Amino acid sequence: MSLQGKRIVVGLGGGIAAFKAVQLVRELMRRGAEVRVVMTEAATRFVGPITFAGLTGKPAVTDLWAEDYAGEVHVELGEWGDAVVIAPATMNLIARATSGQANDALLATLACARGDVFFVPSMHQRMWLHPATQSNVRVLTERGAVVLGPVNGPLANGEVGEGRMLEPDDIADAVESHLAHSDDLAGTRVLITAGPTHEALDPVRFLGNRSTGRMGYAIAAQALRRGAEVTIVSGPVQLPVPTGAEVVPVRSARQMHEAVMSRFDRFDVVIMAAAVADYRPVQRVAQKIKKGGSMKLELVRNPDILADVGAKRVQQPSVLVGFALETENLEQAARGKLEQKGADLIVANEASVGLGGDSNCATLVDATSASPLPEMSKRALADQILDRVRTLLKNPSRKPRHEAKRGAPN
Ligand code: C5P
Repeated sequence: MSLQGKRIVVGLGGGIAAFKAVQLVRELMRRGAEVRVVMTEAATRFVGPITFAGLTGKPAVTDLWAEDYAGEVHVELGEWGDAVVIAPATMNLIARATSGQANDALLATLACARGDVFFVPSMHQRMWLHPATQSNVRVLTERGAVVLGPVNGPLANGEVGEGRMLEPDDIADAVESHLAHSDDLAGTRVLITAGPTHEALDPVRFLGNRSTGRMGYAIAAQALRRGAEVTIVSGPVQLPVPTGAEVVPVRSARQMHEAVMSRFDRFDVVIMAAAVADYRPVQRVAQKIKKGGSMKLELVRNPDILADVGAKRVQQPSVLVGFALETENLEQAARGKLEQKGADLIVANEASVGLGGDSNCATLVDATSASPLPEMSKRALADQILDRVRTLLKNPSRKPRHEAKRGAPN
């Protein structure tokens, strides 16, 4: 009964898969959760609210205007739930949630949700793959919602395609594992570098790279969700700031170096997900460079921020994490970096998968092990990295430097 003590609001949109929400409610309750149900008007055309009243012992909320609710039912439900699970989440419901509408009981509850929000899409494949839906789902994810599925399988009209709602057991598993480690990083201070750096050539041009910052921001969002205090030292990115994070904006590697070196010893965990430029132009030309014949660019090395933190830390951070983007010999290169840079964990990823996309394929390499992970969303990988960080916080592989010195023979 691993959802014992959890309060879950199940919200139904109007889709054929609404019948599976009956099973979902039962399954969540079987695992120990207390469940309340809220339905759109369309959902009531597919299953009866009375079914949920019978299962949960509480009336399903279908109407913002019902006279028998004292007070504001959406505010009360949003505050009550540790999680809101929208299943089925139809194309229309996803669109309305993305645009922040609050004109029915379900959307108003969603707007007031204090806990985690899950969307479990269910629709025809063409609706799922529609650019509007894809872009809405991206926005909801960036705002912190979790999107579960859909999967490829038989659809309502008999076709087979991507759009089928996850089965109730799988939804319950995902919600359970998600809620299991909410707050397990409470009180932990986490510093994350993210994004590319821009190395100025002149007032309008720079040397940069294709990093979007999504990996670092996903780690920040998941760490926040798990209760950590998060600061992001961020290169130039086009991403919304995860709610609750402090952001220190920087442009160049030297600015990032300065921002990190002046604060790293106040953090328990430092995670360097930024794609820092290794080189910068020797000089930044004051005026825009005019075109002429061929030109040669002279570059100098930038400071290695990860290696500097690794070399200078005494007690804090207890856990230092670096990334390694490689095209070959992934594990070997990561192990080398672990030692050269004094890190506790290296997230090694193949250049072919990670850069710029939504998913990543990584191997986690620490002093004693190398764990290859399957390709997964950056959010899921963020949780895997944080799981490992948590283990390292509990069982440090490295003695704090002052202890090592004290213990050394004279
Ligand atoms: O040596 P390499 O660039 O492959 O190392 C990657 C790791 O080192 C990443 O964690 C990156 O954020 C960090 N790094 C850094 N400063 C640099 C170059 C890389 O902190 N100048």
